[in-house]
Amino acid sequence: MTLVPAAPEAIARAAALLRAGRLVAFPTETVYGLGRAKGRPRFNPLIVHVPGLAEAEAFAVFDDRARRAATAFWPGPLTLVLPRRGESRLSLLASAGLDTVAIRAPAHSVAQALLRETGRPIAAPSANRSGRVSPTEAEHVADELGDDVALILDDGPTPLGLESTVLDLSGEAPALLRPGAVTLEQLTGLLGPIAAPGSGVAKSPGMLASHYAPSLPIRLDVIDARPGEALLAYGPDAPPGFAEMLWLSRSGDLAEAAANLFAMLRRLDQPSFSGIAVMPIPEHGLGRAINDRLRRAAAPREY
Ligand code: TXA
Ligand code: MG
Repeated sequence: MTLVPAAPEAIARAAALLRAGRLVAFPTETVYGLGRAKGRPRFNPLIVHVPGLAEAEAFAVFDDRARRAATAFWPGPLTLVLPRRGESRLSLLASAGLDTVAIRAPAHSVAQALLRETGRPIAAPSANRSGRVSPTEAEHVADELGDDVALILDDGPTPLGLESTVLDLSGEAPALLRPGAVTLEQLTGLLGPIAAPGSGVAKSPGMLASHYAPSLPIRLDVIDARPGEALLAYGPDAPPGFAEMLWLSRSGDLAEAAANLFAMLRRLDQPSFSGIAVMPIPEHGLGRAINDRLRRAAAPREY
């Protein structure tokens, strides 16, 4: 495994490796992705990354709603689940044989350059082991995947820090399968009423309740310390008595908290603490996505 700064020569080398069928980790505006394929349950389909709408239309059917969503939010942190095109040349493996495909056009300049240089769509899950927290820094990928990946393109911490919003537009009614940086409020503003997550969890086959889980137990909506716990604080006032404390956002900025969340969970996930406590996060806008990941991190383990 090699970890290199995402300079133009490194991107060219990464594209050559991808074309040769190797695995390459690369930054997107959400989290680092693992290009091509990875060891995970076969029922868990992968998001296909493309430069934009023109390339996506080659293998997915865009109706008026899908075209409006892509026009409004691509390139950006929105994944669309759409009917596959019959003549699609994409491997059936990439979508686990479903009649839908999940697609997104990432906004990150390195991801865009890599897609254009590779000249093919890149199927990429988040670059973590199944069930673990997604990587927001190149070092997270190196720590977790090591020699299973040929090359890691390093462009520092990912700006958004949470995985993309997944919106299912393959059926009659739009359904939010995974909340993310494109908020439910923004999507409703564009498309009208949208079925909330929860109803969608079963439809998104990879979304086990216990995804995004650190090793330590997680306790949510915390106001009082328990012995040995580490705290993720939010807002100006943190309760006393914790063994360690990191501030998701002292000013109560949800975007800052989202960008910090996974890296701080990793930093606190140490055997010297008894658990990780998290202060309440408001359930609106980006807070919905943060709370979704926190609830999954706190859920009983299913794997
Ligand atoms: O931000 C992101 O989306 C990152 C970056 C690398 O792009 N990728 C990512 O991929 O989070 P992954 O594989 O960790 O999560 C993809 C989610 C899974 O929950 C999967 O079940 C869902 O998208 N998904 C993929 N294809 C689907 C399909 N055809 N129908 C329903 N859900 C699908
Ligand atoms: Mg993932």
